[in-house]
Amino acid sequence: MSVTTRVLFAASEVYPLVKTGGLGDVGYSLPHALYRAGADVRVVLPAYRTVLAQVENIRILGWIDVRGAKRTHSVRILEVHHAEFEFPLWLVDCQVLFDRPGNPYLQPDGQDWIDNAERFTVFARAITELARDVLGINWRADVVHANDWQTGLVPALLKEQPHSPKCIFTIHNMAYGGHFSMVDFNRLALPRHWWTHEGVEFYGGFSMLKAGIVYADEVTTVSPTYAREICTPEFGYGLHGVLQVARHKLHGILNGIDEEVWDPATDVYLSAHYSANRRQPGKALNKQALLNRFGMDTDDTAMQAPLLGMVSRLVEQKGLDLVLAALPHLLSHTDARFIIIGNGESKYESGLRDFAVEYPDRIGVFIGYDESLAHLVEAGADMFLMPSRFEPCGLNQMYSLRYGTPPVVYRTGGLADTVIDANSEHQLQGIANGFVFGEFDAATLIDTIERAIACYAQPRLWQALLRTGMKQTFSWEHSAQSYLALYRATSNNRER
Ligand code: ADP
Ligand code: GLC
Repeated sequence: MSVTTRVLFAASEVYPLVKTGGLGDVGYSLPHALYRAGADVRVVLPAYRTVLAQVENIRILGWIDVRGAKRTHSVRILEVHHAEFEFPLWLVDCQVLFDRPGNPYLQPDGQDWIDNAERFTVFARAITELARDVLGINWRADVVHANDWQTGLVPALLKEQPHSPKCIFTIHNMAYGGHFSMVDFNRLALPRHWWTHEGVEFYGGFSMLKAGIVYADEVTTVSPTYAREICTPEFGYGLHGVLQVARHKLHGILNGIDEEVWDPATDVYLSAHYSANRRQPGKALNKQALLNRFGMDTDDTAMQAPLLGMVSRLVEQKGLDLVLAALPHLLSHTDARFIIIGNGESKYESGLRDFAVEYPDRIGVFIGYDESLAHLVEAGADMFLMPSRFEPCGLNQMYSLRYGTPPVVYRTGGLADTVIDANSEHQLQGIANGFVFGEFDAATLIDTIERAIACYAQPRLWQALLRTGMKQTFSWEHSAQSYLALYRATSNNRER
């Protein structure tokens, strides 16, 4: 007789259907790792317009009446099978809320959708209903795994029902709290007894992230260091006290990476492949392709000069202010080249564009989102720049390690847990894989990049560094086992 844990995995982004950052990657690869480890998994996400455009073989599982803001929506639940998924996906289809162009959270002008409170309350209510098999399809979750504020109400709603499944809530980023007003709270008819300091109330409004933390049976975040950091005022975004109270149920489980999608030996986005044991000519061909792509020189001088790559949401978190402050010195005192791709806040977009216009042979900038270019930057750059002021886990530094592109990072969150500085001691021990700095300022970033450039000039040291990173494994297997152990500890598995 087998014991299978039924996991309803809920996220607002799931690669390759919809992704704005690392949550999308995790929304794809963690459920797969759980499935391969024996769990019976369903992934549920909103039926955004972009998602509907990519799926075929849609089956209607049924309709659920879901309370929204002063209205009730007849929500359609769709089951789809997709070539990239080894299990069915469930889509919460509510046209008036999700059938819109562009980003899951933002209007085309970059402002939040004004009805986000309603959109993600309806999503959460639908998930709660699905978890208890309200459609009668004979699939009842043992565990609901909710992610980030967009599903923060799920644990709270589950607690309202008798015999509901246990709920794990994962925090991917404390900077996004899902904060809404008392007016929204009332319009959504959320339970009045939640409105307390110990409940969802947050500075006169309410926080969906807080709801997740308070009401989940277990709370996880995506690296051990970030789990400690968020219990302090500096990283807790006003919720450090709540997290300290919840400490007994808070766990830091490091994300893995999808080692099939991110493998320089087989990467579908690259035309030249390479591996830890055979890095050339593949690595150099990618550098050439990347420089070409930005119309930069590819003569011997350019090919020998260090190329720093960056792929990032252009937001405060990612340390763009430091990068902009460090560039003038690095351009005048070193021969480094830079290729930076990303989008986000306009001050960073225009700051980077200005540099690219002034130094076209030294800086290439692409403002926008381009999955294939992200892979080429990981493969073609010599070093990866990721000076985030905080980083819950960070996937890009793990991709860059795998692609033989040592990362330059600030010592925080998941960066501190994955990157080991190339100081002489670590080099001697053979464990160095990148460059880590401990003071968050432009001067220290400059010193660290100059240190990386000096190391790059010493081929034996540099190759050793590359090899160490490329041979590391960041697979999901280990973390998936940690999640499964948590699920089992919290849920009462049924024998089937
Ligand atoms: P975060 O989730 O905070 O953005 P992560 O490092 O965890 O940071 O994940 C970022 C993910 O988003 C990576 O897969 C990265 O390649 C991708 N990404 C970010 N910006 C872009 C972009 N402009 N184009 C393509 N991919 C991007
Ligand atoms: C968030 C974090 C990032 C993390 C990702 C996936 O977007 O900013 O550090 O890697 O979620 O967990």
